[in-house]
Amino acid sequence: EKRFENINTVMFEDSQVASKAVAEEIANLIKVKQSQKQPCILGLATGSSPKGLYAELVRLHKEEGLSFRNVVTFNLDEYYPMEPDAVNSYVRFMKKMLFDQVDILPENCYIPDGTLPKDKIASYCSDYEKKIEALGGIDLQILGIGGNGHIGFNESGSLQNSKTRLVALDHITRVAASKDFAGLSNTPRTAITLGVKKIMEAKRVILLAWGESKAAIIKTSAEGQVTNQVPASFLQEHNNVTFVLDKEAASKL
Ligand code: GLP
Repeated sequence: EKRFENINTVMFEDSQVASKAVAEEIANLIKVKQSQKQPCILGLATGSSPKGLYAELVRLHKEEGLSFRNVVTFNLDEYYPMEPDAVNSYVRFMKKMLFDQVDILPENCYIPDGTLPKDKIASYCSDYEKKIEALGGIDLQILGIGGNGHIGFNESGSLQNSKTRLVALDHITRVAASKDFAGLSNTPRTAITLGVKKIMEAKRVILLAWGESKAAIIKTSAEGQVTNQVPASFLQEHNNVTFVLDKEAASKL
């Protein structure tokens, strides 16, 4: 365990062991909140990085009786436009990986709506933030990281106080996504993302990164200058953040 700025980095043998450790922390938080008769507010991410975490949470539900009845989730982002039942929608991803496999109440699962008319997006985004605030804020935020340092879909240039909003995706982000969309021309150009400000307001943040391809951006984010060119670097200014890494992602630290 090393400390760079404020970012606690923890390295595990592999992503499976790491995912189990994060699932344990989440399970403990859910149980503490249950004992306090409080909702547990989780900020959730999509992408490949949290898949092992969700699989482990499902296992804890099925084999150890972990209940999600008091859990409320807010996902970071969704492509726009995007129908909820489309193959690549984050709604579909979350249902498959987690929501349909545990006892969470569907009405407690929030994901930005990719079907809104454009002129409704701004007020929808402000309502999304208000719902989070009304519940007392995010207790624990899970993040992945884009190869360019984006968190959620807060691309390079996103400000530290940015709000939840419609954003244009970077070319490099679209190229990374294009494998799922059968080519760049089918890949969405825009998305709705939780802003950096709400991410920074989460009481605890856990960023997951696996593999050699993330090693350089992990070093830049954890040890480099805090800059809006690398939105993950803002996390250096968060007081309770851990980068959970496998050996390869930690290899340049
Ligand atoms: C997408 C998501 C991000 C995620 C990133 C990394 O851009 N919107 O939230 O962190 O992909 O994905 P992966 O975990 O597959 O590397």
